[in-house]
Parts: sequence; structure tokens; C-alpha cells
Amino acid sequence: MLVVEEAPRPKPKPGEVLVRVHAAGVNPVDWKIRKGYMRAAAPLQFPATPGFDVAGTVEAIGEGVTGLHNGQAVFGRGSGTYAEYALAIANQLAPKPSTLSFEQAAAVNIGAVTAWAGLFEAARVQPGQQVLISGAAGGVGHFAVQLARWKGARVIGTSSAANVNYVRTLGAEKALDYHTTPPASLGRTVDVVFDTVGGEAQTPLWDALKPDGIFVTIAGRITEETAKQHGARTAGVSAKTSTELLQMISGLIDSGQLIPHVGRVFPLDQAAAAHALSEQGHGRGRIVLKVR
Ligand SMILES: NC(=O)c1ccc[n+]([C@@H]2O[C@H](COP(=O)([O-])OP(=O)(O)OC[C@H]3O[C@@H](n4cnc5c(N)ncnc54)[C@H](OP(=O)(O)O)[C@@H]3O)[C@@H](O)[C@H]2O)c1
Repeated sequence: MLVVEEAPRPKPKPGEVLVRVHAAGVNPVDWKIRKGYMRAAAPLQFPATPGFDVAGTVEAIGEGVTGLHNGQAVFGRGSGTYAEYALAIANQLAPKPSTLSFEQAAAVNIGAVTAWAGLFEAARVQPGQQVLISGAAGGVGHFAVQLARWKGARVIGTSSAANVNYVRTLGAEKALDYHTTPPASLGRTVDVVFDTVGGEAQTPLWDALKPDGIFVTIAGRITEETAKQHGARTAGVSAKTSTELLQMISGLIDSGQLIPHVGRVFPLDQAAAAHALSEQGHGRGRIVLKVR
């Protein structure tokens, strides 16, 4: 259960920064942890404050941290970011893109970093390739469409009917309504599948993949054996936030090549309502908590 309560202000250890949180991104992993689904990988000590994505200002700096200063606007990955103050490892923060509000900046980290890792590190997307992105309207998907386009790939996205036009505006050549248009309608023409939905929605995606194409998912796990059965390849996604990658992403944002989309904004004391909405698994872009 999520409750709002007073907690002591954390103190940064060496290498850490205390961030005065202005906005926090709400990711599916936050409620998956809250519900105990990640107990084995990420055990909790209670009371626990959820939240990883953050945008705010530097309030205090731990020993050994260089390159950041008090009062600086930053964004990236912290821990316990559904709070007025949260700790972050300094090399998982970067200066906030100057063109973004704090709410927009809080929508970036997990979405953009995961899309980057999936497309460019796991699938090694090349210019001219055809890339199919499932869940193209979501917090990760909307970055994936834009990043694949930026790389020079030809993008097809899947979404509900309500988001088909939105997915096109992100740069997809085609947007398939997953209720009416199966990926098999593309023939086996796709070089890369990037799946952000998983479950039953994953199976039909194989029908669009070229022989020897690559299938990458961030929602569940695909074994090499399963990929082979489809005449295809797979690779795991390891998304790691770093200052360097955030700066790269920030550059794309400030030059207008990547636009984060904020879905609904909730005040901090309505974090439970934000989780309930995220758990539905539909919508555009990233849900954000406005803290300040
Ligand atoms: N492994 C990792 O490192 C990693 C990192 C980040 C996220 N994830 C996981 O990846 C998943 C997606 O994360 P997210 O933040 O993008 O979630 P999200 O913001 O909730 O977006 C989910 C999207 O999925 C779409 N969708 C739902 N059912 C669909 C279907 N049958 N076919 C196609 N699209 C469908 C929705 O679009 P409509 O509204 O149009 O239905 C929605 O836009 C979550 O399970 C999350 O935990 C993993």
C-alpha cells in the first residue's frame, strides 16, 4: 500500500547527490516492486519509498562528486524519488535539458535509456532497416520510435486505435492497431522487433520477422532456443543509466530530435492513483508525479 508520510531527509554518501525532487517518473517497475513481483531480484526494506526517475535540483553533494553544483537542475536515475528529497548516484545524473520542464525531464530516463539499450546495444539497429516496435505509444515505446527514426531506420509501431495517429506523429511510417491488424500483414519484412508489451501480444510479432532477423524484448525473456525455432536471433537488453548516455539523450532533446511525452500528471499525494493508472498498461508517454 502506498501512503504519504514524513521521513527523514537522506544524507548523501561519497559519490552520491541529494536531489530536491521537482518531478518523478512513474514506471511499471515501481508498482511491480510494490506488489512484490520483483522480490527475488530487488528485495525491499520497509518503509520503502518507490521511484527511480527524477528531475530536480541539487541540494547537497557527497564526498568526491565533481561536475555538479548546488542548485543545479538535473535529471536521471535516483532511488526513492516519490519524495521531496531523494538520493542519486552522481554518475546517473546529468544537467536537465534546457528546453524541458522538470515534469518533462522526469519522463525521460528509464524510457529513453531502455529504448537506446534495446535498439542500439542489443539489436544493433542500422540505417535503412525495418524496425517493428510493439507498445509504440508507451513510456519506452514512444522513445524507441523516435530513436529508431533518428538512426535512419524505417519504423512500424503497434498501438491501440486511440494511439495510431500519435505513433505516426512520432515518426513511424506505419502504425498497426493491435486489435484489427496483425503483424503478419507485413509479411516477413522486419529486420528488428523491439517488444515492450510481452505476454500474449508477443507471439504474433514473430510473424513479421525476416529469417535471421533479431527479436528483442524488455517485457519477459526469450531464450536463444525460442528464437531459433522462429529462424531468428535474440539478445538480452541491459539498460544502464550513465551521465554520458543522459547527456547524449539530452543533446537530442535540446536539438528537437527527441521529444519526451508526459502522459497524466499527478500530485505526489496521489501516487496511488498514478500506480492504478500505470497498472492498466495503456496510454501515451510517461505518467509523472509533480512534487514541487
Ligand atoms: N527490462 C527493462 O530494462 C525494462 C525497462 C523499462 C520497462 N520495462 C517493462 O516494459 C514494459 C513497458 O514499459 P513502459 O514504461 O513502456 O509501459 P507503459 O508506459 O505502461 O506503456 C505500455 C504501452 O503498451 C501499449 N499496449 C498495451 N497492450 C498492447 C498490445 N497488446 N499491443 C501493443 N501495445 C500495447 C499501450 O498502448 P495503448 O494505450 O495504445 O494500448 C501503452 O502505451 C513494462 O512491462 C515494463 O516493466 C522493462
